[in-house]
Amino acid sequence: MENSEFETLLEEKTGKLDEIIERYLPAEEGEQKTVIQAMNYSIRAGGKRLRPMLLWETFLLCGGRKEDEGFVAPFLAAVEMIHTYSLVHDDLPAMDNDEYRRGRKTTWRVYGEAFGILAGDGLLNYAFETAMRTFEYCGCTGGPITSCYTSREYLDRAAGALYVLAKKAGIYGMIGGQTADIEAEGQKENVTEEQLLFIHKHKTAALIQAAMTVGAILAGAGQEQIEALERCGLNIGIAFQIQDDILDVVGDSKELGKPIGSDAQNGKQTYVTLKGLKAAGEDVAALSDEAVRILKEFDGDHDFLERLILKLIHRTK
Ligand code: IPE
Ligand code: IPE
Ligand code: MG
Ligand code: MG
Ligand code: MG
Repeated sequence: MENSEFETLLEEKTGKLDEIIERYLPAEEGEQKTVIQAMNYSIRAGGKRLRPMLLWETFLLCGGRKEDEGFVAPFLAAVEMIHTYSLVHDDLPAMDNDEYRRGRKTTWRVYGEAFGILAGDGLLNYAFETAMRTFEYCGCTGGPITSCYTSREYLDRAAGALYVLAKKAGIYGMIGGQTADIEAEGQKENVTEEQLLFIHKHKTAALIQAAMTVGAILAGAGQEQIEALERCGLNIGIAFQIQDDILDVVGDSKELGKPIGSDAQNGKQTYVTLKGLKAAGEDVAALSDEAVRILKEFDGDHDFLERLILKLIHRTK
């Protein structure tokens, strides 16, 4: 695939995901209007939509059919809602205290701190309300069954996917990582590589792993494939967070859509303070190569996914 072809495809796919996510956003009406506006504000600000993209691509990689988009779409929206809630809360004054995100003022700066908290809560809960709309596709609420699979099989897949999503977002996943990240802030001793890898694995890789394995589970992949994607997602996720730490030092805040120097300001020890910029960059490349190596073992078409992972190594936003 030529680079220009990849870039065009990436843009098209991102646009399609934006449309799908938009379809699932709650209407801004009723007594709850303010919190819904705050929720939609952060989602509509954009972002790379990396997690839903990984979910859809692994669904296809594992033999999922494009015609079953209606079955997967609720999960595409849900994973982006969970990710966005994590950002809304991450930016709060009590956490990273940031005022700029996705090229706009952060949610709490626009709607106030209480609504920053509530919008995050709202997005997290609504993510699961949304993911469960996949059951409409299984005929549970009278929705169409347009597939050759039995409804029972769909129900099993959806249940498995929900379990993974819930777990990877929670205390044994993303929230666990954010906990370790915040606790490390006040730490006088140098962070160890082991400690930092725990943080990166949980705060960032967990949701990326969730996206990739949910895609596989919804496609009906076997245990071996699911485990391979879990390992692939771990490598991508850790590389992604190391690159995020790098960009916090050398990035351009306009391009990133968020401030640089946030980690230093919060006294955070990161992969860059631990290993230096050069070694950190080398580790991003090595982890990404390992992710690609795992993907290459799949029979399905992994060209686009591979290009996406390699692009992330040199990402500037
Ligand atoms: C930012 O995630 C937070 C991290 C896990 C490093 P992204 O870089 O994917 O942010 P958006 O979704 O594109 O805004
Ligand atoms: C946060 O890591 C990862 C999350 C789970 C939100 P960072 O705090 O480094 O993310 P940014 O740099 O604010 O996007
Ligand atoms: Mg943070
Ligand atoms: Mg932050
Ligand atoms: Mg960061």
